[in-house]
Amino acid sequence: MKIMVIGGGGREHAIIRKIRENPAVEEIYALPGNGGIAGDAVCVDIGAKDIPAIVRFAEDTGIDYAVVAPDDPLVLGCVDALEEIGVPCFGPNKKAAIIEGSKVFSKNLMKKYGIPTAAYEVFDDPQAACRYLETAPIPTVVKADGLALGKGVTVAMTREEALGAVREIMEDRKFGESGSRIVIEEYLEGPEVSVLSFTDGETVVPMVSSMDHKRALDGDQGPNTGGMGTVAPNPFYTEEVARVCMDRILLPTIRAMKAEGREFRGCLYFGLMITKDGPKVIEYNCRFGDPETQVVLPLLESDLLTVMQAVTAGRLRDCPVRFRDGAACCVVLASAGYPGHYGKGYEITIPDEVRQQVYVAGAALKDGRLVTSGGRVLGVTATADTLAQAVQSAYEMADTITFENRFCRRDIGKRALSL
Ligand code: AMP
Ligand code: GLY
Repeated sequence: MKIMVIGGGGREHAIIRKIRENPAVEEIYALPGNGGIAGDAVCVDIGAKDIPAIVRFAEDTGIDYAVVAPDDPLVLGCVDALEEIGVPCFGPNKKAAIIEGSKVFSKNLMKKYGIPTAAYEVFDDPQAACRYLETAPIPTVVKADGLALGKGVTVAMTREEALGAVREIMEDRKFGESGSRIVIEEYLEGPEVSVLSFTDGETVVPMVSSMDHKRALDGDQGPNTGGMGTVAPNPFYTEEVARVCMDRILLPTIRAMKAEGREFRGCLYFGLMITKDGPKVIEYNCRFGDPETQVVLPLLESDLLTVMQAVTAGRLRDCPVRFRDGAACCVVLASAGYPGHYGKGYEITIPDEVRQQVYVAGAALKDGRLVTSGGRVLGVTATADTLAQAVQSAYEMADTITFENRFCRRDIGKRALSL
């Protein structure tokens, strides 16, 4: 089989490594991939949002199955375009991807179907939003409606900060059209849990739970990033919490999407907060999380491609999905300065012994050498019987990898281990 994976980060690298385990796979193409992925797939210089070029490539190459991993192409309808030419895909169509593409849609869906989430108001007029903020409870959370490279959310600890966020999103249009509407919502507190799930629109199978570390610096300080590391499973997601989430959140969401004529097939990501009033939805993503995928897939015992094809065919109910016992930890190595400005082009050295544990996110090949090209450069994942062992082993491996300006958090897994 010829497989095509759209995207080019650490998540895609993890997906590709796992798909390669299936003996029926002859070739994997990554569009665009990256310098590290090039060791595991044929990288093709087509951007993840260039849907016409993706469709042309799939047709010319005779692709048998496609995985659309990032949010942008999903929300833009990449799956619809590929299905139109008869290429089966893993990922939701455009109608279903709106669950991530519009926060107004997802909040209204949760309200309509009684799915627990933060209380909220929607605004399309900045003046009305600012008036509302004069008396709103503080802290509060301001969110751009549409996709904003993961940066459209401001958790405002003061009224001024909240007003500033409204102006940036709605008046300065920092995120373009994504900011024509905003959601202002109640501030929730509690540990966060990421639950990725396979679903074919009827059956939903949660994967092992995980915990992201979004802030740039140790002790959850510094600016928000795409994620500086992950662990799985997440100890806050106990069996009891998982049962409650299945009954009140996972199944109701799948059924709600179906009832709305937006059947979701693919990976639905539940960003949850375990509040003192029970678990609530912080966000939905219509895709695998990054860097959650880098700890979840290494613990998947079942064959990933088989599960994905069952999702596409609508027969997930008959497909066993097994995770191994034990734990995983992924430590992200970034370029100093990220998520702000950082240097690029520094040579990366990875010892051969750890290469299979490395998922490359922001690196390019230059004259045959791997050099940094992004803020998050790579992730190092260790699996072990216990989380403590996985954390220790991930750091030991990470410390053998060198590049100039390299930085990472030293406390990935600390909160999970403190429980
Ligand atoms: P998102 O881009 O939706 O993942 O939001 C980014 C981060 O903002 C989340 O991971 C949370 O840590 C935080 N956040 C979002 N919504 C809320 C909320 N209602 N209360 C507290 N924190 C939130
Ligand atoms: N790690 C959070 C995300 O993928 O959105």
